Amino acid sequence: MKFDPKLCRNESEVESKLIVQYLLPTLGYDASKWHQEVAFGSIRLDFLALTSPIFSSNRDSAPKTCVVIEAKHPNQNLNFHVRRLTRYLTKLQVMYGVLTNGKDFRIYELMGDRLDLTFQCQGSEITDKIEKISDIIGRAKLAGLETNKSIPLINLPIQVDVIDPASKSISLLTPASKIMKTIAIYHNKGGVGKTTTTINLAAAMSRKGLKVLIIDLDSQANTTYAAGLMKFDTEEDDTLKDSNIYNVVFYPKSNYIPEIALKGSFTYPEVDVIPAHINLIWQEANLIDKESSKLQLVKKLELVKDNYDLVLIDTPPSLNLYAKIALIACDYLIIPSDLKPFANEGLRNVKNFIEEIDEFRGFISRSPINILGVLPSKILTNANYIKATLPKQEKVVQDRYGFPVLETRIFQREDLSRAIDNFVMEGDRQIPDPKSIFDFKPDSMSAAEFEELANEILEKIGLRS
Ligand SMILES: Nc1ncnc2c1ncn2[C@@H]1O[C@H](COP(=O)(O)OP(=O)(O)OP(=O)(O)O)[C@@H](O)[C@H]1O
Ligand SMILES: [Mg+2]
Repeated sequence: MKFDPKLCRNESEVESKLIVQYLLPTLGYDASKWHQEVAFGSIRLDFLALTSPIFSSNRDSAPKTCVVIEAKHPNQNLNFHVRRLTRYLTKLQVMYGVLTNGKDFRIYELMGDRLDLTFQCQGSEITDKIEKISDIIGRAKLAGLETNKSIPLINLPIQVDVIDPASKSISLLTPASKIMKTIAIYHNKGGVGKTTTTINLAAAMSRKGLKVLIIDLDSQANTTYAAGLMKFDTEEDDTLKDSNIYNVVFYPKSNYIPEIALKGSFTYPEVDVIPAHINLIWQEANLIDKESSKLQLVKKLELVKDNYDLVLIDTPPSLNLYAKIALIACDYLIIPSDLKPFANEGLRNVKNFIEEIDEFRGFISRSPINILGVLPSKILTNANYIKATLPKQEKVVQDRYGFPVLETRIFQREDLSRAIDNFVMEGDRQIPDPKSIFDFKPDSMSAAEFEELANEILEKIGLRS
């Protein structure tokens, strides 16, 4: 059997054509020895290949002789996925991890708390080098290692999880849920990448097949613009003025989400968007007088919970009512930050603000906001900075402000701002044609970073595309 990397044009073809049809059978793993979409708490593995039908997620045991296989889209740079694989292998104490996008094929081995790159070749070389690969992670090889081990796998002291060999798709602990999840993207510091995160995370999720709704709660309406909804030239043509998020939160018995949502043209598959408007600034006073306006979004989102998998809410750089509405309505929070001193100091406000909102949420029987973490955003690509300063800055966020830091980092790259600034000419008219990074430059580093972010978030919120 031969493998041709040209067969793999997307992630699911890497999974089916390389891993399921070629790699696993060639390495001796018949259908009873591998499992797809395996969940261990928050960890979701693409594939787990085993020599024995029993797998213990007990962390204290010696590394287990099995293989985690993670498949990526052919456009993805595998370097961005090594940190996550390290976490999987160390947490589950699994000996081998394969990372591949069809073009690049790598085998990593767990060495204490880090991974060693044991083998690497191009997709086109996999067939020629299959013997070498089999000699590292083939079933016969790993079964041999297992019998030589002093503690056989099946005698591990605590068997936490037992895989049913007949089942191909298993959820060992928490099943991936399909309940609509709402994430607010918030920081009271301006310009840290909230809008950029909202737009590109929405696009990444939509490409994974999730039904996504964006809500713009910022009177600057940058997300509304970036979603491609502001193509008009004059105020007369402004169709958003009377149909935007203000209507949703002001009117209790009309202006429901399906009536106000528009299709954003910035990405494909399309994403629904509830636009914002510059008038939100003065309209805030009307809402402050109306106590129920804080709850309308919660109520109206509840009515569309079967229409969407994911709702992303972009917020203003402020502690104002719109920010409150967002934080009351969300289940989860992402806090983009460039980690510079002002942004970090601002985290104290964010923390106090969250405490205030959580208190209010308690009154309406909503659980506290689940903080997914601070997202390092607009991070300098300078190698010395990344090595020396960035880890310290990330640690400050955890130690001083008590926020978790997401693993994914979004670096400062021109492609991201160029994607939003994209336009087309119609005669002598310049028409804004903003794009997500996936639609503007799918092979870019930024696209890979947002793909990584989407995967991390999906894992953390227990959604699976
Ligand atoms: N990773 C990045 N690399 C390069 N430019 C970026 C990046 N992230 C954001 N930008 C640019 O920085 C500016 C501010 O970003 P963005 O609008 O996303 O921030 P924001 O937090 O939403 O700002 P505000 O608080 O005003 O709403 C924009 O011009 C955007 O294109
Ligand atoms: Mg913004």
